[in-house]
Amino acid sequence: MLSLALLACLIFILLSGRATVAQPVLAAHRASGSPSRSLRTLAADRGLFIGAAVAVKPLQEEPAYGATLAREFNMLTPENVMKFSLIHPGRDRYNFAPADTLMAFARTHAMQVRGHTLVWHRQIPNWLKSAAADDFPTLLQNHITTVVGHYRGQIAAWDVVNEAIADDTSLRNSLWLQTMGANYIDLAFRWAHAADPSARLYYNDYSAEDMGAKADAVYALVQGLLQRNVPIHGVGLQMHVSLDWFPNPSEVAANVRRLVNLGLAVDITELDVRLQEPALASDRVLQGRVYRQLVAACLEGGGCQATALWGFTDRHSWVPAFFPGWGSALIFDQDYRPKPAYYSLQGLFTQKSS
Ligand code: G3I
Repeated sequence: MLSLALLACLIFILLSGRATVAQPVLAAHRASGSPSRSLRTLAADRGLFIGAAVAVKPLQEEPAYGATLAREFNMLTPENVMKFSLIHPGRDRYNFAPADTLMAFARTHAMQVRGHTLVWHRQIPNWLKSAAADDFPTLLQNHITTVVGHYRGQIAAWDVVNEAIADDTSLRNSLWLQTMGANYIDLAFRWAHAADPSARLYYNDYSAEDMGAKADAVYALVQGLLQRNVPIHGVGLQMHVSLDWFPNPSEVAANVRRLVNLGLAVDITELDVRLQEPALASDRVLQGRVYRQLVAACLEGGGCQATALWGFTDRHSWVPAFFPGWGSALIFDQDYRPKPAYYSLQGLFTQKSS
């Protein structure tokens, strides 16, 4: 009915010689940022979660940031403020306030939270770098117990261990490995589970999305954890990709399937698809196809009950700072207008499930 009315309106405008007005009206309709059915509504209708990594500063300073986030997403991941150096900046000092701000926002807007992240080789505070190796088990146990305990019952899923496998597929030679040995991974999961038995605990990594050697290493790692009765519930596939390189969707589906067959949940946790700047309109269309294909592949493999993007607006994204010359990686543009990728995900969530 709506499209018939729109067509009649267009014919009237064209016949009355006002075609130049019609274009901006249509463009404004598509770009208003208020599409008829939000992603979160469409996802929720299918029992799915769609999330985004969130930064505190824009949430406090830009009304459009919070409005878009609350309208479109039913899950959020703190992009930085739960990382070790930010939440635990001094040996006896925790800084929960920024993360608490995000938790309050999530609560107000009925969003799930993915906790990110407890054990990582990056964003380690200086005080910890200079601690004695023998102290590490106690320091890590205290950190996990305190942080997970602070949010007990409020965090749906924690990225307990992040990026523990190096690009050559060996265990990464991190401070954790050096001071505690490979057992740090088992211990981290056990401590997190003790601090919040209701949280779903994930191993999270990048470049492990397709059926390559790194994915095999992640598979072997989590299989070992399960065999040792370590409380792990899921694997996070980060999925930071570019238009020039993205994993083969059928391999993603196969990889997700084999992990699901271990009894684990598998989610995309940090999806973004970067483009070379200045981004062409045609590239933005192709980007939309990549977004859709990758999430569809994960769903096909039996995963992605929750899919998280690493940000949502090109105004705030880690990409330009880390990949000079690249950007436009997200589904809303700098002015919070939905891009083709937004409509691609909308199409995917609207599609009849097979
Ligand atoms: O907040 C400070 C600011 O006060 C200071 O002026 C500025 C100068 O460098 O730095 C700002 O902090 C930066 C922070 O992002 C907030 O923008 C840090 O330097 C920068 O290192 C940090 O980068 C984050 C990166 O993780 C840290 O390694 C990115 O925002 C964040 O998107 C990125 O996220 C990671 C995931 O946690 C794990 N998977 C990969 C993903 C992308 O790298």
